[in-house]
Amino acid sequence: MLVCAGLAFAGFAAQADEVKGNASAGNGKVWLCIGCHSIPDYRADYPLVYRVPMLGGQNAAYIATALSEYKKGERKHPTMRSIAANLSDQDMADIGEYYAAQTASSPNNPLK
Ligand code: HEC
Repeated sequence: MLVCAGLAFAGFAAQADEVKGNASAGNGKVWLCIGCHSIPDYRADYPLVYRVPMLGGQNAAYIATALSEYKKGERKHPTMRSIAANLSDQDMADIGEYYAAQTASSPNNPLK
C-alpha cells in the first residue's frame, strides 16, 4: 500500500519545496527512522562503515531534499533509497519539520 503511494508521487518529487510540512504529522512517520537515526555513532551495514547521520536539529528543507534525492536515485545508499521510495512529498516535508524541531531536550526523542 505504501509502495503504491510512493510510486504515485514519484513524478512530483521535483516540487517537494512547495509542500508545507507539519511537525506533529511527522511525529507519526518517523517510527521507522528512529531505529537507525537515533543511535549515537551507529554504523549500518556491518562491518562496512556507513555512519548514520543525526537528523535532529537539521534544517527541514535539507532533510526533505535529501529524502527526495534518495527517492530519485541521486543519492545512492540502498537502504535509504528503499525507505525514501515509500515516502510522499508530504511525508518528506512533515518529517523534515519534525526533525528540525528536535533539540537535545525534546522529550520524545532525547537522542535526536
Ligand atoms: C537501516 C537504517 C536506516 C533507517 C531505518 C533509516 N535511515 Fe536514513 N540513513 C541511514 C544511513 C546509513 C544514512 C547515510 C547514507 C549515505 O551515506 O548516503 C542515512 C541518511 C539519511 C539522510 C541524509 C542525512 C544527511 O545528513 O545527508 C536523511 C535525511 C535520512 N537518512 C532520513 C531518514 C528518514 C526520514 C528515515 C525514516 C523514514 C530513515 N532515514 C531511516 C540509515 C537509515
